[in-house]
Formats: sequence, C-alpha cells, structure tokens
Amino acid sequence: MTEFAAEIEKLAEHLLDLFCENLGLEKGYLKKAFYGSRGPTFGTKVSNYPPCPQPELIKGLRAHTDAGGIILLFQDDKVGGLQLLKDGKWIDVPPMCHSIVINLGDQLEVITNGKYKSVEHRVNVQTVGTRMSIASFYNPGSNALIYPAPELVEKMKEENAPIQYPRFVFEDYMKLYPELKFVAKEPRFEAMKAMEPHFQSQLLDFERELRIKSTISK
Ligand SMILES: [Fe+2]
Repeated sequence: MTEFAAEIEKLAEHLLDLFCENLGLEKGYLKKAFYGSRGPTFGTKVSNYPPCPQPELIKGLRAHTDAGGIILLFQDDKVGGLQLLKDGKWIDVPPMCHSIVINLGDQLEVITNGKYKSVEHRVNVQTVGTRMSIASFYNPGSNALIYPAPELVEKMKEENAPIQYPRFVFEDYMKLYPELKFVAKEPRFEAMKAMEPHFQSQLLDFERELRIKSTISK
C-alpha cells in the first residue's frame, strides 16, 4: 500500500507539471500551490456499488464535483455506471482495463481561474454486477492558500475575462463542502468569495508564515 501511494503521488505530481506546461505556468507552480506549509494531503477510497433490481428507486452516487485537486480513479474493469457531464449531457465513462481515469477537482478550477473546470460526475446503479472503484485523492495541504494564479489572471485580463474566483485557505473550503457537495459548485465559490474579508487577517498570517518558510529554505 505504501508503494502504491508513493507511485500514485508521483504520478499526480507529474500530471501537475504537465498541466503547468499546458497552462504556460512555470514548472512546479501547481505543486507549490498545493503545498501550504505542511505538504499536500493524499488519500485513497475504495467503493463498492452493489447491483439493484430496481435502480429507478435509488440514486447511486449523486452528481457532484470533487472538492480537491486531482483524483486518480481505478474503475471496475467490467461494471460501468460512472458518468460525467459534458456540454449539458451525461456521458458514460466505460470500464477500461489497465487505465486510470483522471478527474479534476474544484481547487484546480480556482487556481487556473477557470481555465480548467472541475468535472461534474455521478455513478448510476446497475442491475447486474457489483462495481468496485479505487479513488486516490491528491489534495492541497490543509493550510494551503488557494487563489487564481496571477499569471493566468493577467492573461485573462488581456482577454477581458473577469477575475471570478476567490482566495481562501483550503481547510475553510473543506468546512463548507460537505453541506454543499451535491449542489452546483458556483454557490461554494460565491460563499468563499463572500467570506474573503472575514478571513483577511488569517490569510495574511498564512502568507507571512509561508514567506518565512520559503526564506528559510532558500
Ligand atoms: Fe466524486
């Protein structure tokens, strides 16, 4: 399990660097943005979805976007059920052997100022077969300061796109998330934006702490 976690973490960080390249950000920017002062958080969740002869009576896993950063999902290789929302339509993600489904969470949407979107997904209940999945989450550290990358904001200003995403500490987002998980993500972003003035002194403290740490490590 330790080896599995280490490899998945390495893969997530490699993906973050590929995203940096794609977004025109300096290599390592996203990894740093996730780091906070204690490093990223990482976890694995195994899920089991038993079949139901009357799937219309239950909801399965309701539509939501994930709160964190990158989610690496090993799907069942035989039983489907996962769908994602694309251009207003639910699309099946078929079972695929020896493959990992990469899912982006809300924090990447904020940091990229909406260049990348967290994906809305759900799991429908099947009538035949038990679906197993293993999802590994690579999330920001609890005290990571999350905000749109200034470079992307500048670029978007030139394109006259408004700065729309809030600035917050990841653990505060996670306090809000459970209550608003199964609604659209926009109210979560708006709630964090509304709380920005309230968190101002806390944000300044975190910024100061991070600056001190980076000065010491130089
Ligand atoms: Fe999810």
